[in-house]
Amino acid sequence: MKILAINGSPRANGNTALALREMTREFEAAGVAAGAENGTLSGTLSGTLSGTPSGTLSGTPSVIETEILHVGHKLIRGCMACGACGRNKDERCIMGDDPVNEAIQKIKSADALILGSPVHYAGIAGTMKSLCDRVFYVAAANGGLFRGKPAAAVVAVRRTGGSAAWQGLNYYLTISGMPIAGSSYWSVVHGALPGEAAQDEEGLQTLRNAARNIAAMLHEKEALRLASIDVPAPEYLRGARTNFIR
Ligand SMILES: Cc1cc2nc3c(=O)[nH]c(=O)nc-3n(C[C@H](O)[C@H](O)[C@H](O)COP(=O)(O)O)c2cc1C
Repeated sequence: MKILAINGSPRANGNTALALREMTREFEAAGVAAGAENGTLSGTLSGTLSGTPSGTLSGTPSVIETEILHVGHKLIRGCMACGACGRNKDERCIMGDDPVNEAIQKIKSADALILGSPVHYAGIAGTMKSLCDRVFYVAAANGGLFRGKPAAAVVAVRRTGGSAAWQGLNYYLTISGMPIAGSSYWSVVHGALPGEAAQDEEGLQTLRNAARNIAAMLHEKEALRLASIDVPAPEYLRGARTNFIR
């Protein structure tokens, strides 16, 4: 099992990175091993399953990896609305010279996703928005590549615009059929200069709680897997497409 966190800040070691690392540490505490950035380390799921399963446990617990993918410093242009992803259905954006296609496949193979962005002008940072527009459009054009994966969003902000940006990230997750891990507050951490978010104790607590909820969702999935219980995603109703100006 794997948790992928995407850092949409231009800063490799800014407050968004700090927030994602805080969550990674919490996964470790919850029995999910911490990983490397732009690389992976693996460990074993060590959390305990309490209660008596009604089925028989079989198989071995999954190895868990976490990875932080830094994209906010890359050149990533916005969606051209060319529709090629819908025609080709090859799980790719036709503009293949940036990290978008790599991110699509990394998310597809991950079991859980965290989207992280700094707040720029009360919204998602531009590069991160360009990436998300294309990644999630391709995912939708290919039948919903990320459906069912637990997910959460986190933003770093100096002062104002945190909840608007956080909401913006959640739009990608919810339209993709991804169950959202909530927390004790909305996952917004405050700080201006790199590292300042370390002083926002309540913000960090919120992130830790979000991470705990993701870990719990993964443990639940693992428990089902070990008990050989398959819960298929419900079939989607499709076909209705209502335009408002015709
Ligand atoms: C272009 C730009 C726009 C910003 N817009 C806002 C804003 O609307 N509201 C705010 O409170 N802070 C704003 N900030 C400050 C950042 O959100 C803040 O410094 C944050 O901690 C940066 O996270 P990072 O270190 O992960 O990049 C902005 C910073 C930049 C560079």
